[in-house]
Amino acid sequence: MRAQESIRWDHSVKFFQDRKRSGERVVSLTAYDFPSARLLDEAGVDIVLVGDSLGMVVLGYEDTTAVTMEEMCHHTRAAARGVERAMVLGDLPFGSYETPEEAVQNARRLVAAGADAVKLEGGIAVLPEVEAIIADGIPFVGHIGMLPQHVREEGGYKKKGKSEAGRARIIADAEALDAAGACALVLESIISPVAAEVTHAVDAITIGIGSGHCCDGQVLVLHDLLGSFPWFRPGFVRPRADFAGETLRAVRAYAHAVRETGNPNEGLP
Ligand code: KIV
Repeated sequence: MRAQESIRWDHSVKFFQDRKRSGERVVSLTAYDFPSARLLDEAGVDIVLVGDSLGMVVLGYEDTTAVTMEEMCHHTRAAARGVERAMVLGDLPFGSYETPEEAVQNARRLVAAGADAVKLEGGIAVLPEVEAIIADGIPFVGHIGMLPQHVREEGGYKKKGKSEAGRARIIADAEALDAAGACALVLESIISPVAAEVTHAVDAITIGIGSGHCCDGQVLVLHDLLGSFPWFRPGFVRPRADFAGETLRAVRAYAHAVRETGNPNEGLP
């Protein structure tokens, strides 16, 4: 397993620069625990994102706004223990980067927990916090477009960039984060032509989620990919497995075997 002291600052930045130059697409998925992160690493995923989507798909919160730094550090530690090769990207949760000093302090906590780089939501509005993190030498990933931490103000998970004003805001945010030195930008729920425009405009790699096919890479919440969280699924997701269905089937078969025979292995070879 990766040693805590071997955090690869230079590796993280160089990784992003090499990928932008070569055009090789970046593959990212979320993981919040040791076995999932280890499987993603073994499958060759480039970036394991310990996202604050943790709050919804693991902790059972209504949205991501209740997630705490303690929870993010706990799950970053667990996921990082499973990763030998991929980059571990830690997410700063809602309310954890209100000032530049607080942003740096909490970014350092995620790094101490095993993150190679950190991410937070927003563009020009959080530029002082972003600049402070980058000045502290911590590889930084931006997140613009639909911002789940602002879902309550926004009144839902809405597509971004449809109006000219919306498009201009996204481009301005992307350029500001790029100029500040962000290695990568997550583009969430941005209409495809605007996501493509951002991708061409910035040096940072763009990692899309629900933003079309023209980004430098893609990220998904693992539970959406695997169909293991059937109670809420964004419209752009097409699951590649049915973990929820398979779990129900196996648990019901086990319960039936135990109730009917007392043998948990009844009916199995
Ligand atoms: O928290 C998360 O999983 C994320 C992705 C939606 C990009 O930020």
